[in-house]
Amino acid sequence: MPAELTTDVNRAAELLRAGGLVAFSTETVYGLGGNALNEQAVARIFAAKQRPWFDPLIVHLADAEDISTVVAEVPLQAKQLISTFWPGPLTLVLPRNPVIPDLVTAGLPNVAVRVPDHPLARELIRRSGVPIAAPSANPFGRISPTTAGHVLKYLASEIDLILDGGPCRIGVESTVLQIEPGTSPLLLRPGGLTREAIEAEIGPIRFPQGHGIESEPQTAPGRLLKHYAPRKKLILLSEEVSFPRTSTTGVLSLLPVSHPEKFGHVEILSASGDLSEATARFFGALRQLDECDAVQIIYARRFPPYGLGTALNDRLERAAR
Ligand code: TXA
Ligand code: MG
Repeated sequence: MPAELTTDVNRAAELLRAGGLVAFSTETVYGLGGNALNEQAVARIFAAKQRPWFDPLIVHLADAEDISTVVAEVPLQAKQLISTFWPGPLTLVLPRNPVIPDLVTAGLPNVAVRVPDHPLARELIRRSGVPIAAPSANPFGRISPTTAGHVLKYLASEIDLILDGGPCRIGVESTVLQIEPGTSPLLLRPGGLTREAIEAEIGPIRFPQGHGIESEPQTAPGRLLKHYAPRKKLILLSEEVSFPRTSTTGVLSLLPVSHPEKFGHVEILSASGDLSEATARFFGALRQLDECDAVQIIYARRFPPYGLGTALNDRLERAAR
């Protein structure tokens, strides 16, 4: 039976407890949740997304105080970040508690954990009574969902229920930061919490140089070359090259473009160039362009290389491969 939309958090929590899969809203993107302590439920998540087993999942908690149920040890810097940024778009990669199944961490000694900043998500996790493993609720490698409708469209036959909490406030996935005592923290995925905000709290962190893509071991799905991708070809133009003016051109632009009628379809992310507004619209706009019949090729330009622009550039570069 295909999934249905609901706002009934009790029913959703009951389903999770029974080993079912529930997609739910968070402040970043929609997640595809299952009981992190139930290997069968976790296996169903991988199957529903067609996700390779070597890509570990993030475990979601209702409250920071529950962290010892998934993590063996919380280093000092992690404690500082937790007290400032949780609930919120920050995922910490920390030594795992042995109760977390290998399937969740892809056999790695660390587990990724976060507390989402969305009342419905936290209520769902709290009522389910277990930690919830949840990747973004999209088929593997494709555009992440920022509305319940997106989830319904792409995963309806694979899941049991979609808890509809409205459109996602931030619109890009959480920032993933690995913290190991003795080394400076390593940014594994730029996301909804900026590097600048993290460094203001705990000092310099390590950040992969350049796109940081080719040279790295693939310890994380966010580090895979092709990801967040539309079906159509996406081309990244440099500043001095103008968008080709044809009726089959799709344009993804931060700011308004001149003569929009000369393109197949134009998506403007923020009339004022505001990066928060642009981030909230980003994945939805990419989807619009992907689904627009007139468009054959999508063109985009990089965002300013700071703040949320870092996460958006990361997603664009992977989508363009
Ligand atoms: O905002 C988000 O993080 C969303 C919502 C639903 O919470 N979730 C999400 O999950 O984006 P997913 O599965 O699409 O991305 C998981 C990311 C990967 O980039 C991977 O780097 C990292 O989490 N990750 C998970 N477990 C890890 C581990 N044990 N070690 C290193 N990285 C890990
Ligand atoms: Mg994802």
